[in-house]
Amino acid sequence: MAEPYYLTTAIHYPNGKPHIGHAYETIAADVIARFQRLRGREVRFQTGTDEHGLKMAQKARDLGMTPRALADEMSGHFKALFDVLNISYDRFIRTTDADHHRASQAIWEAMAAKGDLYLDRYEGWYSVRDEAYYDEKELVEGEGGEKLSPQGTPVEWTEEETWFFRLSNYAEPLLDLLRTPGFLEPASRRNEMIAFVERGLQDLSVSRTSFDWGVKVPGSDGHVMYVWVDALTNYITGVGYPDGGALWDKFWPADLHLIGKDIVRFHTIYWPAFLMSADLPLPKKVFGHGFLLNRGVKESKSAGNVTDPMELAGKFGVDALRYFLMAEVTFGQDGSYSAEALVNKVNAELANSFGNLAQRTLSMISKNMDGKLEAFETADDDKALLATVRSACADTLPEQFENLAFSVGIEAWLRAVYACNQYVDEQAPWALKKTDPERMKAVLQTLFIAIRDLAIAIQPVVPDKAAAVLDQLGVATDRRTYADLADESWFGALVAAGHVVDKPTPVFPRLELPEEAA
Ligand code: MF3
Repeated sequence: MAEPYYLTTAIHYPNGKPHIGHAYETIAADVIARFQRLRGREVRFQTGTDEHGLKMAQKARDLGMTPRALADEMSGHFKALFDVLNISYDRFIRTTDADHHRASQAIWEAMAAKGDLYLDRYEGWYSVRDEAYYDEKELVEGEGGEKLSPQGTPVEWTEEETWFFRLSNYAEPLLDLLRTPGFLEPASRRNEMIAFVERGLQDLSVSRTSFDWGVKVPGSDGHVMYVWVDALTNYITGVGYPDGGALWDKFWPADLHLIGKDIVRFHTIYWPAFLMSADLPLPKKVFGHGFLLNRGVKESKSAGNVTDPMELAGKFGVDALRYFLMAEVTFGQDGSYSAEALVNKVNAELANSFGNLAQRTLSMISKNMDGKLEAFETADDDKALLATVRSACADTLPEQFENLAFSVGIEAWLRAVYACNQYVDEQAPWALKKTDPERMKAVLQTLFIAIRDLAIAIQPVVPDKAAAVLDQLGVATDRRTYADLADESWFGALVAAGHVVDKPTPVFPRLELPEEAA
């Protein structure tokens, strides 16, 4: 029976169009989802939009729209982007969905039943941009002497009657959780969270009365839930909370919440505390990835350097964008990107190395062997190459991807591609055509086998391109998992079936750098 795997991205505020950071996180999550499916696991993958709260309400007011209309419009842009990026989500959740309101009210009632909610007055700082409360001592000073959140966003003084959650009751179990190896990664983010708990946890204000764009607090007129309470609950709404059922039994607790490093506090302190209060199992892992910088600079409207990921995908192709982001950035750390870096990397590694290898090999088979595969004897050189490729594709890449070290796994894959190209140069099959045609066939077919392994392994990163290569090779769509790598019978089956390799069309054309970026 396939082992289940549930992963989620953060759900995004639809107060504007998606930017490159949203594309980055969701592509990374999709790589994980596809990888785990190819490992044979039964995957559930959820993403979506976080539609309530003051930030949405204020933005809508500024635009003269209702929050609902703003959410509908912008959520549509997120969904359209994720569809273009080939994101294989199982559910795109919107926090305005009816089942989500029900789930949020249910977890609220569970926390109330535990005695963890009480009514009091909140007085303190709030950042609308972060939708977060901050202690006075956490604030920093801006250039003009104004108070800013630790993230550098404006804060405003707030006073209102709110419900409080007894976060202070959960310090001990939270410390245990934060110290559990593997719960919060990269491990470098752990100390900050432990220090936050050790400084002393204050109870958390979990409702608002000064506006009404949110999930209604059950039995408490005039209160809507603090947006993070309902936002975090999306993770259990999507698997059937509070009803339970097949999805719940299979997929909760989640295997992985993939999020940005700026919202680790919400996911490793508030969220586990809510779940503990409601007597629900805790997620197995939270991973806080880094930020993507544009030539080293954070993108912002004021800096005028905002990239539309839809445009980027349109210009360079979805798989080129996916490959670049996953291969270039050490996952967990901040990374930098630019059009030149993307074009250079994709041309060097996909077009010139892997693409060229596939194109050259398949056209030589089609031309010099009439496209017909035959049984052949492997020499020591051939065996050595296939062992190198197999170990990268079946061992190193999967091990690294399992640890979310995508760039390391891709590098091992790329070294195997280089080994193939070196083998081509050394064996010079074009010269063997006259001198030793049998040997030429062995060399070309060794490469054929290597390319199949390479294409199978890289599918999570470049799903469409890898599929196009595998189609050209004639590998059946249901024989493309990591487990299929170990099956040696496929080649013989192709030969027996009289498979003919057609004249190939290039799968990885070279990219041109657009004028304006040069
Ligand atoms: N919308 C939040 C943000 O962009 C993330 C919410 S993630 C959730 O920072 F889990 F709380 F939903």
